[in-house]
Amino acid sequence: MLQTGTLGHGVFGHGVFGMKDVLVIGGTRFFGRRVVEDLAAAGHRVVAISRGNRPCLAGAEWLRCDRKDRAALAGCLSGRSFDAVIDNICYQPEEARAVLELLGGRCGRYILTSTVMTYLDALTGGRPVGEEDWAASTGCVRMCPPYLPGEVAYATAKRACETEALARADLSPIVFRLHNVVGEDDFSGKSAAIPLEIHRTGGVRLKARPDDTYQQVYAGDLGRVYREAVERDDIPAAAYNVAGARTSVADYLSVAMTALEAKGKAVLGEPGAPDGPYPVNVSLDDALFRRAFRSRLAAPAEFLPAVCRWYAARDGTSPLSARDGTSPLSARDGTSP
Ligand SMILES: NC(=O)c1ccc[n+]([C@@H]2O[C@H](COP(=O)([O-])OP(=O)(O)OC[C@H]3O[C@@H](n4cnc5c(N)ncnc54)[C@H](OP(=O)(O)O)[C@@H]3O)[C@@H](O)[C@H]2O)c1
Repeated sequence: MLQTGTLGHGVFGHGVFGMKDVLVIGGTRFFGRRVVEDLAAAGHRVVAISRGNRPCLAGAEWLRCDRKDRAALAGCLSGRSFDAVIDNICYQPEEARAVLELLGGRCGRYILTSTVMTYLDALTGGRPVGEEDWAASTGCVRMCPPYLPGEVAYATAKRACETEALARADLSPIVFRLHNVVGEDDFSGKSAAIPLEIHRTGGVRLKARPDDTYQQVYAGDLGRVYREAVERDDIPAAAYNVAGARTSVADYLSVAMTALEAKGKAVLGEPGAPDGPYPVNVSLDDALFRRAFRSRLAAPAEFLPAVCRWYAARDGTSPLSARDGTSPLSARDGTSP
């Protein structure tokens, strides 16, 4: 177990690193589950906190607790210390503050999952946004529209969570500003939307123009990324943009259509067509991440075929993909990325 203020004794990169004690807050769904899975498979002792809506993985110790309930959280964490805490579902600054206060001195590194959305107006500038743009981009005038009020509220609250985390230099904080996360078993419906539309109709219509771009992160890569942040104590405390390669919407759909052997067409740029699940032309410069981390992020051509086939194979078998007559392309829910 850790000595206060250190990250344990890992020697990552030489095949020998110490087992770490890791807390994952919110690790029973979508990519949080992948993070728990990856850490446990690598031999770390993992504790996951969730309220119990779905079971935790067998490889982790499971603490049932609502992280918004400070007294319950304090009870849950009493007497425990961790080499790293991954706060994957922190949405309000007081939630971050509670964990930071409760675990200060009992946590080596605090890792906060944040979002591309915290760049607020800088997202609409039409150029890749770097970490250096964050401090100056405090407004959300230009971003609204196209972003919905719920998305703006989400972005500003996540930004405040980041501020709490980054102020705690004693906890060697890492903030991951994730772009849209795409992968199998995405409860939100976003990852399913394009594959299901193509699977059901043989084609797809979107308002986006062919040369508009998408940028995403494959959920299956995130276990490795978070594990690297846990295992390597030479990664500088900082906020990192996390995003795969940018792809034109035309190329993205072509990969999806080929994977599903679709016979129809991708029709792009028609006014009145659905927006689709992802914002276009929002790009992150991930140079800092690529310098600090060894993990490589898959491009859509590498992950999308399997993701499309996964959703097509399960079409109609889960509430997420139920055929209720609405187009899966209306999956945008107003709260995330
Ligand atoms: N998905 C994306 O595209 C995207 C993009 C950028 C950033 N992000 C960020 O990624 C993180 C994860 O997002 P997500 O949507 O994938 O998360 P999620 O699946 O909704 O995470 C839910 C997990 O947290 C647990 N949980 C939720 N509320 C809880 C509470 N009050 N107390 C304890 N456990 C709780 C859930 O289990 P129980 O229900 O059993 O409690 C589940 O394990 C978020 O911080 C989000 O801002 C996501």
